[in-house]
Parts: sequence; structure tokens; C-alpha cells
Amino acid sequence: MEKKILVTGATGTIGKALIKALTEQKANFIAATRDVNKLPQEVKGIAFDFEDASSFAKATAGVDRVFLLAPPLNTLADQLLYPFIDHLHKENIKRVVYVSALEMDALPKMPFHSNVIKRLQSSGFDLTVLQPSFFAQNFKNYEFENITKHNIIYAVAGEGKVGFVDAEDIGRVAATALTADGHSGKFYEITGPELLSYSDAAKVISEVIGKTIVYPNPTAEQFSQTLAQAGAPPFIADYMIDVYSLIANNRVNRITSVVENVTGRKPTSFKEVIKRDFLKQ
Ligand SMILES: NC(=O)c1ccc[n+]([C@@H]2O[C@H](COP(=O)([O-])OP(=O)(O)OC[C@H]3O[C@@H](n4cnc5c(N)ncnc54)[C@H](OP(=O)(O)O)[C@@H]3O)[C@@H](O)[C@H]2O)c1
Repeated sequence: MEKKILVTGATGTIGKALIKALTEQKANFIAATRDVNKLPQEVKGIAFDFEDASSFAKATAGVDRVFLLAPPLNTLADQLLYPFIDHLHKENIKRVVYVSALEMDALPKMPFHSNVIKRLQSSGFDLTVLQPSFFAQNFKNYEFENITKHNIIYAVAGEGKVGFVDAEDIGRVAATALTADGHSGKFYEITGPELLSYSDAAKVISEVIGKTIVYPNPTAEQFSQTLAQAGAPPFIADYMIDVYSLIANNRVNRITSVVENVTGRKPTSFKEVIKRDFLKQ
């Protein structure tokens, strides 16, 4: 039987990059989304919702491997994914590539990725875990208006350094792990090629877009107050403070050679991603 891959999170940042890489490889895949109209016309899609078990059987028909991605900003992501993991187990679909994040074990208040991995391991899946660093695309996805309208990056990352990674590189690593042999049982820490603080990132962005962008390096308290004043629900600030503590506390200040080792291509620099995201609209 020809291999067929189900891509969850297909309309998201990594999912789009993975679909691009799988399409380039002419791999046989199907893109899962709650709204197939969000997919490009040429991409074959299937309606799928982790919250709707009745969508699982059609999505996995003929599938022998799954790219599994938990939506972000959901501290109950493990509970969200368990029914689908149980479905895969029941259907004897063994090969799974799961996206976690670098150093998640250092965040005891956020056990969801670790819990999903434990569930996959204890159920005997043939598993590859991707542990990407912070995405270079976060500046476009979450800071675009701050940067372009207010000349500021508003994060709570202190002066720690991080190897921002291009989501396209993550997509290529995922595509290789899904289509080639030799990636089972591996944990891949995926980073970009250089270590940058948020102050460094602000300098790079300033240089690329031609105006001065400031990183004010707020305290956690200032950050929470600002988000509350902007009307964000309190859990968002708590979530961001926890996640960004990985940078502030120097837990993620390392770069790896995973992108090059797995894909044979050098990882993309932060500056290149910023040029792509901010200059080529
Ligand atoms: N941002 C970072 O720096 C970073 C770093 C390391 C790891 N991560 C991890 O990466 C993951 C997020 O990836 P991303 O940024 O690519 O996500 P994203 O762009 O926010 O996309 C989220 C995806 O989840 C899908 N989704 C949401 N709710 C769903 C549901 N109920 N059923 C089925 N699909 C659902 C959405 O699809 P539809 O809306 O089309 O259904 C969408 O494709 C998280 O697990 C996060 O922990 C992020």
C-alpha cells in the first residue's frame, strides 16, 4: 500500500510549511482542518476536529502515518488530543511525528506536551518528537502590528538568547521524518543558526524594515498589566510569561545541527525570515 500521511494543524504556521515540503516531494498526504475552505485549492483536505470524534474515521481512512500538532495557547491540549490518539491506536496507525517544543519539561505548569508524548510512548506508537525552538515567524504572527504601527516588540523574554527557527525549516524536518526511514524514536531539537536576544532581534528587524524598533524588556508585572489594559484574558499573560521564561532564564540558549543533519540544508537565518515576512507582502 502507498504511504499516506494525515497532516493535522495543516492551516497553521508549521502545517503550511509541511504541506509545501510534502508537495515538493510529491508525497501522498491529506490536510486536516476544521474548515477545508482555508486550504489552497490544489491541496486535498478533509474536515477534522480534535473535539469531534465523528470526524476521525474519514480523516484516517487509508492513512498509515500522522503529523500530530496541538493547537497553541491551550493548556489542556493533552485532553484535546487524547481521543484522537486513542483512535489512532485502535486503528493500528503506528507512525506519528509529534510537535512539542524545546525545553517544555522545564515548565511544570505546562505538562501538556510531556503528557501527550507519554501517552504516545505508552501506547506503543512509532514516534518522532520535534522540539522546535521559538519560531522566527512569531514576530509576524504575534508582533506585526506592534512592530509596524508602534515601533515596538512587546515580549517578556528578558535578555536571554534563543535560536529562532524558521517554520519552513521545521516543515522540511517534519516532511523528512514522515517520508524517510531512520527517524523513529528520535527527539529532534530544531533551532535556527544563531543565538539572539530580543534586543538583538529588535536590531535586526530595525535594519530590515528601515526604522527603529524598540524592545523595552518589561518585567513580568509590567507585561501582565499592559496585556490586562489591552483587554487580554489573564491566562494569556500567565501563559506567555511562563513560555518566555525559557528565554529569560537561558534554558533555550543553544543551537543544534538538526536542520542540516536531517534535511541536508543549512537553517535559514533570522534576518532572512524577517525579510520574507516583512518586505515581501
Ligand atoms: N510559536 C512558537 O514559537 C512555538 C515554538 C515551539 C513549539 N510550538 C508549538 O507549535 C504548536 C503550534 O503550531 P503552529 O504555530 O503551527 O499553530 P497555528 O499556526 O496556531 O495553527 C494551529 C492549527 O491547529 C488547528 N486546530 C486548532 N483547533 C483545532 C481543533 N479543535 N481540531 C483540529 N485542528 C485544530 C488549526 O486548524 P483549523 O483552524 O484549520 O482547524 C491550525 O491549523 C503548539 O503545539 C506549540 O506549543 C510553538
